[in-house]
Amino acid sequence: MQPVLAPFPATRLRRNRATPALRALVRETHLDPSDLIWPVFVMEGEDCTTDIPSMPGVQRLSVDRLAKAAVEAEARGIPAMCIFPYTDMAARTEDCALAWSMDNIANRAIRAIKDAAPNMAVMTDIALDPYNINGHDGFVVDGRIVNDETVEALVKMALAQAESGADILGPSDMMDGRIGAIRAALESAGHRDVTIMSYAAKYASGYYGPFRDAVGASAALKGDKKTYQMDPANSDEALRHIARDLSEGADMVMVKPGMPYLDICRRVKDQFGVPTFAYQVSGEYAMLKAAFANGWLDPQKVVIETLMCFKRAGCDGILTYFAPEVAEALQG
Ligand code: PBG
Repeated sequence: MQPVLAPFPATRLRRNRATPALRALVRETHLDPSDLIWPVFVMEGEDCTTDIPSMPGVQRLSVDRLAKAAVEAEARGIPAMCIFPYTDMAARTEDCALAWSMDNIANRAIRAIKDAAPNMAVMTDIALDPYNINGHDGFVVDGRIVNDETVEALVKMALAQAESGADILGPSDMMDGRIGAIRAALESAGHRDVTIMSYAAKYASGYYGPFRDAVGASAALKGDKKTYQMDPANSDEALRHIARDLSEGADMVMVKPGMPYLDICRRVKDQFGVPTFAYQVSGEYAMLKAAFANGWLDPQKVVIETLMCFKRAGCDGILTYFAPEVAEALQG
């Protein structure tokens, strides 16, 4: 009798990895500049920028500089930019009235980008924190963040942004009922085609620290945001949020932060099959930049890898501070 040999492998998974051509053929996900939304910080002034120490390589830009940056970003194939305003501490008040002024820095930035780069989709942030003396996303009354009064203010903010020409509104405040209220107001004001990307699964995360430096909210913020942003321990709750926001009229949804929350991205995409975005937030950016500066990680390899992971996890696109350099690298 012949000895029984261990069966020789019929399946050699390495075959499909043997050459760059074969690897390209079997690649399941692709990253393209059209997957990127570039978050930018805008400030008062003319032809000037300031550095943000905890976000090396990211600057706050004056409106004219921002408009130029939009033209370059459009040329690199980036489809959307998301505007975050830096407002003077002295302009922040308890009633946050600047938030819905047509002339605030964010609304001027929307108009400037639309003028300079008409095909660039402009996304906004809807939350009171850049205008609020205490750094919170909602009004504070007797130490509590009040929901319904805040929603009324967010609606006014949304209308001013839509009026300024924003394409995508991004409510990031996490108040209950804001998507429905904003959607109804947009409809009755005739802004029927303005898209809402709800920050639907936004967690009370430690990863927002550098962003709060960038918008000058770190010093202002009293307490934390745990009564409105989600507990990082929860996952089912994210799905309830998404279902609720979609039923109220959100067109796209966001998970935030990004890479530590890829499991949420996957669950959202699988369950709802709607346009799903992740925000690779400031802390994720800062962490990678620190490792690059120390020579511990290679940016050429790691940045694309991190963004590809979002696509693999089911995201349609990513908000990332790396957008301009990645778009350039992808264009070759
Ligand atoms: C504010 C807002 C935050 C971010 C986006 N919109 C900060 C916060 O919730 O405190 C964070 C973005 C980042 O960290 O890159 N509503």
